[in-house]
Amino acid sequence: MNTKYLLVGIAIATLFLVGGGLVVYKRVVDDQYEVDFSERASIFAWASKCSVDGLQSWTCGQPCEINKGVQDVKAFYNSTHQIQGYTAYDSVENNIVVAFRATTTNLNWLLDFDYFKIKYPTCVGCQVHRGFLIAWRDLQDSVLKSTSDLVQKYPNATLSVVGHSLGGALAVLGAIDIHLSVKAVDFVYTFGQPRVGNKEFAAFFDLNIGNSYRLIHDRDLVPHLPLQTQGFYHQGTEVWYNQNSTSYTVCEKYLEDKSCSDKLKSYTMDDHDIYLGRDISADCN
Ligand SMILES: *[C@@H]1O[C@H](CO)[C@@H](O)[C@H](O)[C@H]1NC(C)=O
Ligand SMILES: *[C@@H]1O[C@H](CO)[C@@H](O)[C@H](O)[C@H]1NC(C)=O
Ligand SMILES: *[C@@H]1O[C@H](CO)[C@@H](O)[C@H](O)[C@H]1NC(C)=O
Repeated sequence: MNTKYLLVGIAIATLFLVGGGLVVYKRVVDDQYEVDFSERASIFAWASKCSVDGLQSWTCGQPCEINKGVQDVKAFYNSTHQIQGYTAYDSVENNIVVAFRATTTNLNWLLDFDYFKIKYPTCVGCQVHRGFLIAWRDLQDSVLKSTSDLVQKYPNATLSVVGHSLGGALAVLGAIDIHLSVKAVDFVYTFGQPRVGNKEFAAFFDLNIGNSYRLIHDRDLVPHLPLQTQGFYHQGTEVWYNQNSTSYTVCEKYLEDKSCSDKLKSYTMDDHDIYLGRDISADCN
């Protein structure tokens, strides 16, 4: 039953032993779902849609009021594909946060676009969704530089990458590059995240970044796109919440657990914006 988990464990152990050229950083936190952190992370994901000015002064309205103690914020907007994200230091948790915005133009990215997979150069046999990779490339230089500056300034802080919807897909791609070129990523928490790449990509991600949780609100449609039959497969561990967000199941690690949301027969966009009982796509300043 846990064969895949076991295999991943063996693979990780082998990487540590052999080293094989790839730098494997040691994570500083245990791999377990943290409910309190997920709530804070969901607010950080929400904040990513506020204005650049509201973010930089951390006066973005509700999300900035809920998550206090945030400083050194740098927000990035690239007009080419209207991609936005920010980096910040959360003094309450001694945690560096990297967050990405969901698409604002509805779900064009998910619903009209091609599910065309392209080669992902970082790992052998890996392919990812073309649109997501293009979107990440728009912010890559700014985000890596700014994360690296924060790591220098707060060397003992943990490092987390978060996002909702498209922002979740960007968090996955961003986390790998940050992990391999800046510092070990401690947490990747995503909300209503679509599938990003193929099975090889998912395995590569899980090998490097174990502590990754994908929250799914009940029947949210987006985590089920693009389809598995189109060659896409989820990384991380699903955490499946019920309709009123009062209970959740931490699904089997590093697998598309067939006994969690994959088992449903129908999905809806109605559940896509509500995470942990809040509309995390609501307007902000
Ligand atoms: C915005 O994205 C484009 C296309 O990826 C890139 O060429 C450009 O350098 C980016 N701008 C900034 C400020 O990073
Ligand atoms: C970690 O960083 C915080 C904030 O800069 C500082 O207050 C604390 O003393 C540091 N702890 C260690 C062990 O360096
Ligand atoms: C939440 O939903 C569960 C099952 O659907 C139900 O048993 C529970 O009473 C609900 N709780 C609230 C606070 O609505």
